[in-house]
Parts: sequence; structure tokens; C-alpha cells
Amino acid sequence: MLFLYPLVILLSSVSVCVLVLGSDPVLLDQRNRCHSRLKQLHGQQVTVHTPPNITGHWVSNSCEVRPGPEFLTRSYRFFPNGSFQALQFFYRDPDCSEPSSSLLIRGSVRPQRGSWLVHGGTFSEVHVSRVQLQCLQTTCDPDPDRSMQELTLMRLELRAEELFLGDVHTERAQRSLHQPAGYQSPLRSAKAECRGVCQIVSSADLHHPPVLPARPERPVRLQGSWVSTRCEVRPGVLFLTRQLTFHEDSQTWTGQYDHFSDPVCRHPTFSISASGRYSRGAPSAAIGGAVEFTFTVTHMMVTPMDVATTFLLSAFRGRECGAEGSWKLGVPQDVTSTSGCAALGVRLPHMEYELFRAGQDPSGHSLLYNGQRPSDGSSPDRPERRPTSFQPPLIRCERHERDQPFRLSAGAGPNALDTLPAAAALVLLHTLM
Ligand SMILES: *[C@@H]1O[C@H](CO)[C@@H](O)[C@H](O)[C@H]1NC(C)=O
Ligand SMILES: *[C@@H]1O[C@H](CO)[C@@H](O)[C@H](O)[C@H]1NC(C)=O
Repeated sequence: MLFLYPLVILLSSVSVCVLVLGSDPVLLDQRNRCHSRLKQLHGQQVTVHTPPNITGHWVSNSCEVRPGPEFLTRSYRFFPNGSFQALQFFYRDPDCSEPSSSLLIRGSVRPQRGSWLVHGGTFSEVHVSRVQLQCLQTTCDPDPDRSMQELTLMRLELRAEELFLGDVHTERAQRSLHQPAGYQSPLRSAKAECRGVCQIVSSADLHHPPVLPARPERPVRLQGSWVSTRCEVRPGVLFLTRQLTFHEDSQTWTGQYDHFSDPVCRHPTFSISASGRYSRGAPSAAIGGAVEFTFTVTHMMVTPMDVATTFLLSAFRGRECGAEGSWKLGVPQDVTSTSGCAALGVRLPHMEYELFRAGQDPSGHSLLYNGQRPSDGSSPDRPERRPTSFQPPLIRCERHERDQPFRLSAGAGPNALDTLPAAAALVLLHTLM
């Protein structure tokens, strides 16, 4: 559910929210904060070199979670002659405080050209020459992935010195041949101001893995409004920002997903707003501190934001995508009555098995993580497909960490922006290309 893309700044969608939720000043305040955060994100100046000069030492800034789940930290060195030494440290716990094995992968990498799969990324040729595995427990569990497919896609953002490397496939068996179409959480340069996690990871070696401090468990509380921290990329050449609002007392949620054609989210293509219900399940057995949820999407509105998408949606007129027929640029249509939108591949009602986790950024702001979508574009619509890793975090849109009671105004239905199955967006985008 939440995996898609959220967010909407569009006039129409905002006014919908205001109508529904307008009577609650706390929520309005949060939404305004979300709104201004998003405005800053859209079209933000980001300096990127293609191909990038990645010479240097790059390290994880936190304990990372890969599908499985696998818990790891990374410490990668790239030399001027094109060779690299990639250290990966694996752990038994989601704090990365109990190391289980270390992997040293040597090889060479040559950035080539702009990626055809991910606009704004660089495709690189990678050659692995040597792999060394060091077991720190009696058994190396899990046996790590020894390929370096992640280096075939990279993006270096100079402003914050962040190196984004390609994603790993959510199915382990697919990893060694996977062509990345999205990114993992970025590595940071170990050059400057490297303290805390950065310092611990950058000074480790194959035989002395970094041991991160165990963190107190942060309770998962969804209540309130949350927004993307950056322009996010989804497999299939999709860029988006998300804004999600949860009402714990009524167990309803709304989501707004603004889609863009470019990697800094400057050129909007369409927006989706969705809403529905959710229910909290058990604490995750796989990832300590995470909590299972189920989500349903019951209402959805679609707003075409450029001429190509308007044209595409109009071609579906009268065929299971909105009752009114013709689509107009910037004008939202409710697609609930047609059980979704065939052009987007979205069917309502839709149910998803989710995983949430709470976090905190370096400045102490609350972060919320929800599950990564399957790499094959399918939907986590069965319990066994529940995610075991996370999307980029959302940040809470308020200054203070208080939980305020919140209520939908009387008589208003849950009118929200939901999430779409990722596959839906893929269908649309592929058609556009
Ligand atoms: C890349 O950056 C390194 C230092 O960060 C520098 O020594 C090297 O000359 C640069 N390479 C190119 C091709 O600009
Ligand atoms: C490239 O440079 C690194 C570090 O200076 C060195 O260890 C490695 O042997 C060099 N590789 C080649 C192929 O020259």
C-alpha cells in the first residue's frame, strides 16, 4: 500500500483534504508543514556528475536492512585506477551489534554512461576478481550474496556527498543477475566529519567488523502526517514524493503520491490520492522493533499532470477508469466507482501486507519506514509476500513529538489518497515511454 508513491501538492487534492479534514487545526498544521517540505523537495537543486568520480572511501551511515532480512554495514573503497575493495559486514540483529560474517570483494568498476533504466543514474561495468568470506560465528548465516550488481548503477550527489548504489533484488535467487532499477540507502563519504556510525564503520576491517551500539526500541506509532525526505525513485523510471496521514483512532489512512518524470521531482506527470483502512498486527518476528500491519485501499482519485498522461487516460475513457469519461489536465477524477483504473492496473478494494518501523534522523526527527515492494513489480497481497526490508523513510511533519487526538469531521467519508500497487504505475509509465 504505502509503497507507491505518495504525495500531492496539487491544488485539487489539497482542497479535497481540506474539505474532509478541515475542522482539525492540528492536522491542518501538520499538512501545511508537509506541504512546505514538499515544495522544497520538488525541483531542488542537486549537483550530479555523469559519470561520477567515485574515488574515495564510502561507508554506511546506519545499520542497513536488505530483503531476507539481512542486516549489514558497508565500507567501500574506490581507487583512481578503477579498482575497488568492498567490505560488507553482516549481523544477526537489526542494530548491527552482533556481527556474524564479513565479506571482502575486490574488483574493478568503470562508470560508462547515463543509465537507460534510471534517469539520472550512471551505468557501470563491474568485474569481480576476488571474494573473501570471514565467518565470525560457527556458521555463516545467512550466506551472503557475493555479486556486486549494485555497482552497475550509481548516482553521486555532491551537495551532501552521498553515493547511491543500485538496489538488490528482493528475491535472493535473482540477485546475481539483477539489473538494478532503484537505489539502496546512500553511502556517505568517510572523508569529512566522520563521527559516530561513520567512524565505527570506516575504521573496521575484514577481521574487525564494526559493532554498532544497540538502540533502545522505538515504538511504532503511525498517528499524524508523514512526508518523503527526498525525491524517491521506483523501479520502472518512476520518481515520486509521498505524503501519508494516519488516524489511529479510526484506523483510516490517506496517501498522496505525486509522480514526476525527472530525478529531482520537478516535472509532474500525475498524482494519486488514495484512502482506506488499516489494522495493526503482531510485532515482526523477522525484524525486532518492526510491526506488521494490513492495509486496504478503498478510495482513489487520479489527477493527470501533464499532456501525455492526460492523453493516455483519455484513451481509456469509459473503460474502467473513472466514471466521467474525459480527462483534463490538473483535474482529479474519482476512480473508486469503477473499482480502480485499468490504465494504472489498480483494482479496488486492494489489500496489502505491510511492515513498519520507527526511526530517527541525526537531528532527532521521527522517521517512519514502510515495506519495500517486491522487485518483480508484484504486490504484497499475501502474508508470505510481506516485505522484510524498507523503503526510504518518511519524516513526521510536525515540530513536536506529541500525539494529538484527531478526528474526521462528521459526515465525511474516508477520502484519502492511497497507495497504488507498484505494478500499476509501471504499466502506466511503460505505456508512456
Ligand atoms: C577524482 O577525485 C580524486 C580525489 O577525490 C582525484 O584525486 C582524482 O584526480 C579525480 N579524478 C578525476 C578523473 O577527476
Ligand atoms: C590500483 O590501486 C590500488 C591502490 O593504490 C592497488 O592496491 C591496486 O593494486 C591497483 N590495481 C591495479 C590493477 O593496478
